Amino acid sequence: MSNHIESVLIEDRVFNPKKNNIKDNNFFIKDLDVYKSLCLESENDYKSFWKKYALDFLIWHKLFTNVLDESEAPHYKWFTDGEMNVSFNCLDVNLTNGNKHKTAIIFESDDGKVEKISYIELFTRVCKFANGLKKLGYCSGDRCIIYMPMSIEVVVAMQACARLGIIISVVFGGFSSKSLHERIVDIGASLVITADSQKRGGKYIPLKVAVDDAIEMGGCESIKNIIVYKRSDKCVSWDIDRDLWMSDVEDTQSEYCEPTFVNSEHPLFILYTSGSTGKPKGVQHSSAGYLLWSKMSMNWTFNASDSDVFWCTADIGWITGHTYISYAPLALGMTQVIFEGIPTYPDSGRFWKMISDHKVTVFYTAPTAIRSLIKSSSSDQEVHPKNFDLSSLRIIGSVGEAINPETWLWYYKNVGREKCSVVDTWWQTETGGHMITPIPGVTPLKPGSCTLPLPGISASVVDETGEDVLPGKGGFLVIKRPWPGMIRNIWNDSERFKSSYFPEELRGYYLAGDGAQKDNDNYFWILGRIDDVLNVSGHRLGTMEIESALVSHELVSEAAVVGRPDITTGEAVVAFVVLKDKQPEGEEAIKIAKQLRDWVAKEIGPIAKPKDIRFGDNLPKTRSGKIMRRLLRLTANGEQITQDISTVENIHVLKSLSTVL
Ligand code: WT7
Repeated sequence: MSNHIESVLIEDRVFNPKKNNIKDNNFFIKDLDVYKSLCLESENDYKSFWKKYALDFLIWHKLFTNVLDESEAPHYKWFTDGEMNVSFNCLDVNLTNGNKHKTAIIFESDDGKVEKISYIELFTRVCKFANGLKKLGYCSGDRCIIYMPMSIEVVVAMQACARLGIIISVVFGGFSSKSLHERIVDIGASLVITADSQKRGGKYIPLKVAVDDAIEMGGCESIKNIIVYKRSDKCVSWDIDRDLWMSDVEDTQSEYCEPTFVNSEHPLFILYTSGSTGKPKGVQHSSAGYLLWSKMSMNWTFNASDSDVFWCTADIGWITGHTYISYAPLALGMTQVIFEGIPTYPDSGRFWKMISDHKVTVFYTAPTAIRSLIKSSSSDQEVHPKNFDLSSLRIIGSVGEAINPETWLWYYKNVGREKCSVVDTWWQTETGGHMITPIPGVTPLKPGSCTLPLPGISASVVDETGEDVLPGKGGFLVIKRPWPGMIRNIWNDSERFKSSYFPEELRGYYLAGDGAQKDNDNYFWILGRIDDVLNVSGHRLGTMEIESALVSHELVSEAAVVGRPDITTGEAVVAFVVLKDKQPEGEEAIKIAKQLRDWVAKEIGPIAKPKDIRFGDNLPKTRSGKIMRRLLRLTANGEQITQDISTVENIHVLKSLSTVL
C-alpha cells in the first residue's frame, strides 16, 4: 500500500440545513442531538443497536437469536439463525398497510411513454413470473444472470428471483458479451434473463445477441434457459429448446406464489466490480442484513415519506440501482420513477422535464450527469433547469464520485433552488448502502464533503498501521466495525476477499480502497482511490482489466493504463501502447487507435474505451522491468516531470509517449 495521499484544498463554506421541507417519519433523525445519541448508542452496544432496527425494519419468518456471529471473521454473519424473504419484505408487506393500490413504479420509456404499476399489480406480476420459474425447475440457491434494460420487467425479474431464493447477478446492459461470459462462468448460472434489445437515445441496442455470443464462447454448459423480455419488434435468433419469452413464462401462472423463506445470510445477489487485478470481483451480499441496511439508509438519507416520488437515475446494473431502485424504495412502500433513456435525449432538459412531469420530491443522480447538464445548459438556455417547475423537489442527492464544490453549488442553486438539502452520499458496491452522508435538514453542508458517517458506521481515517491520523492529514478510509449491509465474500474467492478488504496490518478494519481526510469538524473529504482503480463517470474501472484487454489484441505487445482528470467524466482512461510491429505514425496511428478502442469496447464494454491512446516503442521501466506508472500519470496529464528519474532505465521513451493523437 502506498502512503502517498495528498490532502486537498478544503472548502470552508457551510450551508445550514433547511428544516421546512423535512417530513415526519418514525425513525428519522430529527436533529444533531438525536444523531449524536444514536452514534453513541451504537458505539456502546452495537449488537443491541442493530438488533433493535432488525426487529423494527424487517418482517421475520423465523426470528433470529444471534445478532452477530464473528467466529469466522472477517466473514461476519448477521442475524444468523433468522429466516426471512426479501420479496416478502418488499411486496407482501405493502398489501396490508394501505399501499395496495398505491403506485409503486412510474416507468418512463426512452420515447416518453409512461406506464404506472401499483403494488398489487407488481406483486401479482412477480408472483406469476416466480411461479413460471418454479415450473421450469428453478429453486433456491440456483444462479441467474440478469442482463436487461431499465424497465418494470427488470424489477419483476429481480424480485421474482428473490422470492424463490435464486441468487442473481445483474450485468450492466453496456457490458460486452465477453464480460457477460466471464460472469456466467464464474457464478455457474443456469438461467439468463434478458431482453431482445434496449432503447436508449432513440436507438435500439441489441441485448439477446450478446447473450447468444457469450454462450457460444464455450464453458456455459450450466445454462438451461434464456428468458427474453420483448422490448421491440426486432427479430432475434432463437433456440426453441432453450429460449422462452418472458410473457409466456408469466402468463398462464397463478397470481400467488408462496415465498421461499431463506436464512438471513442466504446470498441475495452477486455484483461484479473492478479491483486492482485483471479479474472483476463478485461482491456477494446477504438477504437480511443487506435489506435492513438498504431500508435504514434510505429512510435516513432520503427522509423517506409516504407522499414521496423518488427518482434514482442509476442503472440497475450498478449497486445504486439495486439498493435504491429494486429493494429499498419498495420495502418502504414508496412511489418511484424508473427511466429507460439517457439525460440528453431528446434534449438535455429531459431530467428537469421528468422531475416536473412526475412531481419528483427526492432526486438522486451522479456528478458526471450534473456536469454534462451544466455544460449543455450553458450553451443552450432552453434546457436550463430554470425553465422548469422543480418546486416539488425537497432533497437532491449525489453519488459515484466526489462532487466538486462548483458542481455542488450549481446543483444546490439551480436544481435545489437553495431550499433542498444536497446529500452527497459516499458508499460502495461493497457497503450495500450509504455510509458517509448528510442527513437532510440536519447536517450542516460543506460543498465537496460527504460530511459525517451514519449512526452504526464507524468510519475513520488511518495510516498504514491502522492508527487514526489527525484532522487535516490524508490516510486510508476504513470502517472499524462490521455492519449488516457489508459485503460477505468475493464469490468463490475467500482469500481475495480477506486480502483486499481486511489486510492484516489494519487490525481487522474494513479497507474501503479510498484515500480520505477529516477536517476539524470531523467531516470526511474523499480524495479518490488508492488502488489501480479509475472512476470514469462514476463507474469503477480497473486499469489492469483494460490493460489485459489491450494486450489480448493481436497487434499489441505491451500496454499500461492510467487515469487523467476529465472535466465531464471525472477521470478519463489513457492507454500507453507498444505494438509488436514498429510504432505507427499519422493516419496509421489513428486507424490502429480506433481499432484498439473498438476492441476494448468489445472485450469489456464501451465505458472502458480509452479516451487517449499513445503509442511508443517502449514503456518507461525500472532496471528490474517494472513499469513506472507514476511517470505515465504525469505524462498523461501533460505535466513536467520534476521527480527523481534516476531509476528509469529508458527515459527517452517518454518523449514519444507524450504525443497526443
Ligand atoms: C467508489 C465506489 C456507491 C455507488 C456508486 C459507485 C467513489 C462513490 C462517492 C462520493 C466520493 C465517491 C469512491 C468509492 N465514490 N461515491 N459521494 N464521494 N467518492 O459504487 O462502483 O462501488 O464505486 O466510488 O471512490 O470507493 P462503486
